[in-house]
Amino acid sequence: MKLTRKELLVGGAAGAALGAAGIYELVDKLADSPPGHFGEGRDPEQHLLDGMRIEKQEGVEVVVPVRHHQLVTARVVAPPDQLRDARADLAAVLTKLDADYPGTPEGLAITVAWGLPYFQTYVADAAEVHLPFDRRAKKRALIDAIRFPSDPDDTLLEDNDAAFLFRSDNEEHIRTAATEIFDRMKGVLEPTSIRKGFAGQMDGGKGFPKEMATAAGVPGADLIPDGSELFLGFTSTQRNTLGPPRIVNFETLGLVDLGPRSYFHGGTHMHLSHIFEDLEAWYLNQDFRDRVNTAFRPRLPVRPGAQTVPQPPSRASSESDVRRDYHRFGAIGHSSSLQPASRLQQDVRGSDGTLYRKGTAIPQRADFNTLDNPFFWSADPKRDRMGEDPAAGLHFVVFNPTSDDFHRNRLAMDGVLPGGEKLQFAPRAAGQGFNSILRTTHRQNFLVPPRRHRSFPLVELT
Ligand code: HEM
Repeated sequence: MKLTRKELLVGGAAGAALGAAGIYELVDKLADSPPGHFGEGRDPEQHLLDGMRIEKQEGVEVVVPVRHHQLVTARVVAPPDQLRDARADLAAVLTKLDADYPGTPEGLAITVAWGLPYFQTYVADAAEVHLPFDRRAKKRALIDAIRFPSDPDDTLLEDNDAAFLFRSDNEEHIRTAATEIFDRMKGVLEPTSIRKGFAGQMDGGKGFPKEMATAAGVPGADLIPDGSELFLGFTSTQRNTLGPPRIVNFETLGLVDLGPRSYFHGGTHMHLSHIFEDLEAWYLNQDFRDRVNTAFRPRLPVRPGAQTVPQPPSRASSESDVRRDYHRFGAIGHSSSLQPASRLQQDVRGSDGTLYRKGTAIPQRADFNTLDNPFFWSADPKRDRMGEDPAAGLHFVVFNPTSDDFHRNRLAMDGVLPGGEKLQFAPRAAGQGFNSILRTTHRQNFLVPPRRHRSFPLVELT
């Protein structure tokens, strides 16, 4: 059943697109009622969800991801002298939504993030004083995104003012909230893109990724293993590979100077990118052994057909492990190449007194698969190169303490070790981890304020 563009993507006005589901309404038809979660209340942090369920998959603790995701990027269209009122209006609608839904997967989680253009254009003086500073990198904690060695030359570095991330097991909650926010922000914040997607919840059967890709007629969909969490067949939310709750807060690891008022205490950094995935190249050009070498580490012993591969802190790869793999096999694995940057290299006592052991993961990934091409809706379809047919991809969302910390991770994924040594690969070479079957189309870094300052941050100090 090949879907038409009309059935998949939505053109026309942003308003209509915000209220539309397109193919994604299929997710709820395919699945049983969402699993029960528990827990109430709202954290001061915007990027944390309450009641995330931990389950054992193939003997490994896995965080069960939220089913539906939507991300709306936007630009400010109101004149600066109207932003104080806008700040109160947006805060009011967000507070109302916090009351309407519990902060759990079955309720709704909204994360509001702000781009460098917003800080530079509307609150430059206050930003000069209060934007967090990365002590290790000796630069701002929020800097412009860059093209990485494996990125194609035409990867778009975006300049949105804001991004709204919506996560829920109930798609209706997301559509209602997104419509309420942008109705209230008419003439103030204008959507520039809408991005939608889902994650498999590993609850048996074929699993959303395979069923959605099959329903959309995506090439290679039939090759996706049944029940897998992601299109590429491996679980990517095991507990050991995701940073513990507050580790990415600006203040936790001591990486960041928060300035005179610690205005952004409880905030964090978010990177957003869109990545196309070539499923046929992944499954037809590589057998299971090759895929394990690429996703994890060359020659890592793994049970044939496994989807969840243990990555405990005690076995995190070091720079010399990655260098040795490179010289022995001419290849690096995705998660092993990242671990010298994504894991703590020594025990760290956090600002709240928590002891984080060596090998603990830092980044909190919130990425989700998509059939968007590359977006569900775009205000500038030509610039965003909106395509006709559904395409397998990932909206990659990750929280790190700073932009530079994310850049160190992403460079490590290309074989640029945190110490600066470059393991030589041609861009997207077969040995360079996943990159050979990925193509990044868009990128931007954002700052995620704490909940109390999530609406038009610093405007009140300007
Ligand atoms: C389509 C693209 C991608 C897919 C399918 C993917 C999939 C995976 C998988 C299967 C793992 C192993 C996780 C586990 O063992 O739980 C992983 C780990 C990870 N990935 Fe990716 N990934 C992708 C892109 C990226 C990108 C662009 C980054 C950016 C830096 C990234 C950062 C990470 C990190 C930090 C880890 C954890 C490493 C660790 O500390 O063990 N991934 N990813």
